[in-house]
Amino acid sequence: MPTVLITGCDYGIGFEFARQYADDGWTVHAICLDDASRDKVTALSSKVHCHHLDVADEAGLAALADTLHDQPIDLLINNAATFAPDGPGTLMLPDIDEYTRVMKINAVAPVYVANAFEDHVARSDRRQMVFIGTRSGSIGDNGSGGHYAYRCSKAALNMAAKSISIDFAKHGIVTAVLHPGSVATETRKGGQIPVDQSVTGMRGIIDGLTAETTGTFQRYDGGTIEW
Ligand SMILES: NC(=O)c1ccc[n+]([C@@H]2O[C@H](COP(=O)([O-])OP(=O)(O)OC[C@H]3O[C@@H](n4cnc5c(N)ncnc54)[C@H](OP(=O)(O)O)[C@@H]3O)[C@@H](O)[C@H]2O)c1
Repeated sequence: MPTVLITGCDYGIGFEFARQYADDGWTVHAICLDDASRDKVTALSSKVHCHHLDVADEAGLAALADTLHDQPIDLLINNAATFAPDGPGTLMLPDIDEYTRVMKINAVAPVYVANAFEDHVARSDRRQMVFIGTRSGSIGDNGSGGHYAYRCSKAALNMAAKSISIDFAKHGIVTAVLHPGSVATETRKGGQIPVDQSVTGMRGIIDGLTAETTGTFQRYDGGTIEW
């Protein structure tokens, strides 16, 4: 069975990806920010391995890549992300440290994750790498402004993911940015789509990724989104 590495598995969409792939018998390497998530995540299956790591910790990523050096990774899911609450003023900006923290976790860290596990994915059978983005990161689709840190971090992620699709094509790695929809999770009670439906949809998109569709920005339920 294949192997998947997923970031941000403490709960929400990342946990659901881990749950579904574990149910299908995959080996799952689940990166969790909080070590308290370990028991819940490893209870999914004996083939689920929990790694306690901040995705913005470059040395930690290198150490994990080294630990897993003989493990091909068929699918890498860059899912971990964070959000900043609105601040004051017309632009409702958070303070600059908070804005920068969101950029670091959502836009910078996924590039370092991709870099750390390039060889593991290149050596696998499936060679797939996806980035969980959002419609909020689409410049063409932005009709309401606001949420500067989150929107700009996800727009930057789109650019990075597109470049990675070009640079890793030499390995036969296929990539996509996926919009999960407005998903109801522990942190986002107002979401409309059940998390299992969103993740099932994204898994279908991942299964259909090819050299022709690599480097695209796709919805969980089909169709592309303008950058
Ligand atoms: N839910 C939606 O409607 C929606 C819509 C569009 C896009 N998305 C995207 O979908 C992905 C998952 O969203 P979600 O709703 O499941 O969010 P979530 O419930 O907040 O889950 C995000 C996960 O990432 C973890 N995380 C945050 N910072 C991390 C770090 N530095 N290192 C490692 N893990 C970290 C979180 O851990 P902690 O909780 O411990 O911080 C949590 O487990 C994100 O990329 C998000 O932008 C979600």
